[in-house]
Amino acid sequence: MKPVSFTINGMAVSAEVEPRTHLADFLREERDLTGTHLGCEHGVCGACTILVDGAPVRSCLTYAVACSGAEVTTIEGLDNDEVTAELREAFKREHALQCGYCTPGMLISARDLVLRAPDADERAIRVAMSGNLCRCTGYVGIIRAIKSVISARRARAIAPVAMNGGALGPAGSRHSGSETVSELMAGRATATPVSAKAQRPAMDRDWRPQVSFEQSFVVHYPRQQVWDFFGQVRDVAACLPGASLVEEPTDNHAEGKIRVKIGPITAEFRGEADIERDEKTYSGKIIGAGSDVRSSSSTRGMINYSLRPTDGGRATEVAITVGYTLTGMLAQFGRSGIVQDVASRLTAAFAQNLEARLGGKALEDLPVSGEGLNAGSLLFALIRDRFKALLKRLFGTR
Ligand code: FES
Ligand code: FES
Repeated sequence: MKPVSFTINGMAVSAEVEPRTHLADFLREERDLTGTHLGCEHGVCGACTILVDGAPVRSCLTYAVACSGAEVTTIEGLDNDEVTAELREAFKREHALQCGYCTPGMLISARDLVLRAPDADERAIRVAMSGNLCRCTGYVGIIRAIKSVISARRARAIAPVAMNGGALGPAGSRHSGSETVSELMAGRATATPVSAKAQRPAMDRDWRPQVSFEQSFVVHYPRQQVWDFFGQVRDVAACLPGASLVEEPTDNHAEGKIRVKIGPITAEFRGEADIERDEKTYSGKIIGAGSDVRSSSSTRGMINYSLRPTDGGRATEVAITVGYTLTGMLAQFGRSGIVQDVASRLTAAFAQNLEARLGGKALEDLPVSGEGLNAGSLLFALIRDRFKALLKRLFGTR
């Protein structure tokens, strides 16, 4: 086994790998980044295309150990990428996919083309995309989709991007001091392990969430009292079942963890958050990022809240907007309304605990506590509620 360290989708990763392990297997098997598909496994079909240091490479032909020090980006890391978003829309509009097996590789190759060749015509697009094979859709829609994105960007006068370095050599080999493949294979690797803290996704203030939703609840205490309580980070965290702080928080920064059980899986997201409060508008913002090492999942989230007096000032309505992006193995739970329903129950638990704390209850007497949010039982409750709603819709009864 050889040590290797690189950045995958913005997250520093270090691991021990067999020298023969190719990057696609490493990404899929070790990191659960299954958006990288494997077709031919010998460099022909392009299904496994990813970016290494910004350039498209065949991950089935690239040794993981050859990429020490490189920046690796998979289709999951392009969730918030502007060009990829335009391409996704165009692929949808032009019916450029059926089974979708070739699509991640197509999108990555097409993105590179769109960025570098703003003048590409249909022939140039066909030549540039000839390394990506599609077995079920045909190429007409794919070419039309890419062409439409190139034309739209040309109309907006967006300049091309120079190719990253342009050096020849194995993928990832441009890093000063990095070993050649043969040196790595011979066992002279010098990858430096990164700390657990460095494995957290970087905070990025320009990040935009994939999914957003709104929640609100009322607590029966005046706005100023609720506002003052929200300023005490430790007390607020204690109202959230399964959450705790790992370090003493400051007024505008906190590090903590939250434990969630999903059936047999227990995930513990550790991360940090920046906190902003605006006294004048009784509103605040929390921007955080965290990851669960066991499931190789990471999340970024943003919570905006505002407090509004209600019931003649005797109560306060807390309006919350939540935005998040979930990647990795647990991302399957982020694609439907499940996260939103789970968040509703978490919010309800938080509201009950907040009400109790504002009423002077001690931490150990909070109405909703426990090891952590058990999404297993939450999911059961959720399915039951949805089933009831369906029956009601069908038969007008509960
Ligand atoms: S799986 Fe890599 S090119 Fe086909
Ligand atoms: S959409 Fe099925 S292989 Fe391309």
